[in-house]
Amino acid sequence: MSIFDKLVVATLPLVPKIIVGKVASQYIAGETLTDAVRTVQALNRKRLLATVDVLGEFVHERAVAERDAEEYIDLLSAIHREQLDANVSVKLTAVGASIDPQFMRANLRRVVEAASQLGTFLRIDMEDSPYTTGTLAAYDELRREFKVGVVIQAYLRRSLDDINRLLDGGPANFRLCKGIYVEPEAIAYQGKQEIRDNYVALLDRMFERGAYVGIATHDDWLIAASERLIRQHKLTPNRYEFQMLLGVLPRMRDELQARGHRVRIYVPYGKSWYGYSTRRLKENPRLAGQVLRGIFKK
Ligand code: FDA
Repeated sequence: MSIFDKLVVATLPLVPKIIVGKVASQYIAGETLTDAVRTVQALNRKRLLATVDVLGEFVHERAVAERDAEEYIDLLSAIHREQLDANVSVKLTAVGASIDPQFMRANLRRVVEAASQLGTFLRIDMEDSPYTTGTLAAYDELRREFKVGVVIQAYLRRSLDDINRLLDGGPANFRLCKGIYVEPEAIAYQGKQEIRDNYVALLDRMFERGAYVGIATHDDWLIAASERLIRQHKLTPNRYEFQMLLGVLPRMRDELQARGHRVRIYVPYGKSWYGYSTRRLKENPRLAGQVLRGIFKK
């Protein structure tokens, strides 16, 4: 990251929310369930699959966490009613993980039961490292009863042990990503190439042990390495899918699809868009630069 980019990222918290929102809107479907349904319908028309996320995280009030769980249940009903080719992604801190683990599990179970009744798959997103162990434990418990998956972050040094343990425990469904939170060197690889190398090692192990994998990346180096592994393991497209974020590199997404892969798009929606959007902008200082230009154009 250049000094200018670092400066842009560092000054993001000072930027008025309305300007962040203008630039970040390309990453989110909108504020309402109707916006999400419309976005998924447009993706489905292009034969793209979706996973829908109700924006919200690090919730500290029980009423908000319960409301988030209800919103997920409404979303699941809409997916069923509108016959969308979509599943859902849930952050455990949105349904109470930072309030009380028992309370979170009760909320999560309500959502998972609704998903199961409506025949929809649910994936648990992975958040920052204080939540890794609890998230994997919740997944391990639920996968015995329901169609659920979890996310593994390639930057975490512990991930190989985590997947080995989960793979020993039965069939597994993973999304593999690099990881987006800022984590200390003691627990997380920091270098671009070492994160990529760990990603490839994890993916190889997942394929070797028969897991279903959502290959979540926009990194063309990693996409090429993943395609090599898919060929090496002689996998058919029902064993994996590529996953990308709404608004990021649509051309790459279309190319993946043209090469015969299934592609799922992560579609976030809701009123609590600020945390998600600023993380996306920090990942892409070029866009954050647009935010700053937005200020000066006002
Ligand atoms: P990298 O960051 O190197 O990006 C490769 C290229 O993609 C960039 O050069 C740029 O061109 C483009 N790009 C990437 N991000 C962009 C952006 N925001 N805007 C514009 N262009 C961008 N993380 C996590 O910790 N827990 C989770 O549960 C998830 N879930 C998840 C789901 C899905 C479907 C995806 C695709 C990603 C996640 N992530 C995540 C985020 C993930 O960990 C990672 O931070 C991002 O995918 C960026 O890493 P890449 O592998 O894309 O590489």
